[in-house]
Amino acid sequence: MDSRKVAPSLLAADFGNLQRDIEMVNQSQADWFHLDIMDGVFVPNISFGMPVVKAIAQHAKKPLDVHLMIVDPDRYIKTFAELGADVLTVHYEACTHLHRSLQAIKAEGMKAGVAINPHTSVTLLEDTIQDIDLVCMMSVNPGFGGQSFIENTYKKVSELKNIIEKRKAVTLIEIDGGVNAGNVRKLADAGADVFVAGSFVFKSEDPIETIKTLKQKIV
Ligand code: DX5
Ligand code: ZN
Repeated sequence: MDSRKVAPSLLAADFGNLQRDIEMVNQSQADWFHLDIMDGVFVPNISFGMPVVKAIAQHAKKPLDVHLMIVDPDRYIKTFAELGADVLTVHYEACTHLHRSLQAIKAEGMKAGVAINPHTSVTLLEDTIQDIDLVCMMSVNPGFGGQSFIENTYKKVSELKNIIEKRKAVTLIEIDGGVNAGNVRKLADAGADVFVAGSFVFKSEDPIETIKTLKQKIV
């Protein structure tokens, strides 16, 4: 298995100093950039779109992990490939033909991710797990940074890990929402591989040190 990863979410960055915050991530021990794209329809918030992703891609020196919180994401798969996304994640709840969406993402040369909301059972992924490179398990209701971690997530991670092993799939489990130094180790022990952290990193006094702390806890 790949080593466990930390993916700072730029949603919590200072957009007036975006290049500075990107450079901070470049210089840190972080593994990926996590980009949250919200359309104001699938989730009750709008984040940022293509011009901002393009600017991020120009400065980022690490893989771009793009999380689409949008309806009908198939419309934009090609666009995000062209913008430089390495992992493209669509929501289970937003895809009528999930298998087709996953194939379309891979056909564009990206890793295919599926995000599930807190109310969505991991058992619903049993029949597609072998086609999924990454499951983004939402540990808050998507739409906003800075929310509290939902404790039921630990149980879901263990259940999903069992499904992955039973089906002999090669799928990373990513945790998104409310991740901090207090829950990251327990999540890793339950089977999680990738840890998205927005507020905990960017609102801290020394984000580089905070990322280092998270990395140390998951080795
Ligand atoms: C929430 C987003 C998250 C968010 C995490 O809808 O998908 O990636 O940025 O932020 P924190 O770490 O502050 O919960
Ligand atoms: Zn996210």
